[in-house]
Amino acid sequence: MEKTRVAVLVSGGGTNLQAIIDKVADGSLPQVELVKVIASKESAYALERAAKAGIETAVAKEQPQVLEELEGSGAEIIVLAGYMKVLSPEIIKKYRNRIINIHPSLIPKYCGKGFYGIRVHNAVIAAGEKESGATVHYVDEGVDTGEIILQEKVPVLEGDTPEDLAARVLKTEHVILAEGLKIAIQNLEKEGIE
Ligand code: GRF
Repeated sequence: MEKTRVAVLVSGGGTNLQAIIDKVADGSLPQVELVKVIASKESAYALERAAKAGIETAVAKEQPQVLEELEGSGAEIIVLAGYMKVLSPEIIKKYRNRIINIHPSLIPKYCGKGFYGIRVHNAVIAAGEKESGATVHYVDEGVDTGEIILQEKVPVLEGDTPEDLAARVLKTEHVILAEGLKIAIQNLEKEGIE
């Protein structure tokens, strides 16, 4: 099978990255070749995870450097996995419909500027929502505004703290990010055919 070259952009612990690494390793993502992990800061533990898996890593704080690293890696698809920076319009344009992001809410709710990490779950709990979830979407020039690829719901349980909800949603993220990556690769292949 022809593999698709995938780069992953990270900023934090990298549990979403780890989910993809594990699925490539166990054979459930045979169409994926992880070519580079690019972190927005040296302290991202995601870099350790990548190094342990033998994946090339780089730290790129500014967008021109991110673009350079992406071009150098030959990546065909880019996954934002806990990446906390806004990509430059130049990168979005060059990789249109080939960048996907995982967001810890049911977009269009609780997304956009200021809604990231625990802040999302604080707002969901405060609003008394009975359900939440995660979304995989294409990245465009907006924040969390690109076309939705996949969503998965989780219940908000009586007495849930934001941390309880975050943990439940994160488990779902790990499942749908890999599924969303498969769909993005299929869409890329279809694009290639048309
Ligand atoms: C998680 O809250 C996730 O929802 C968001 O980034 C955070 C960290 O993810 N995408 P990770 O553990 O660094 O993958």
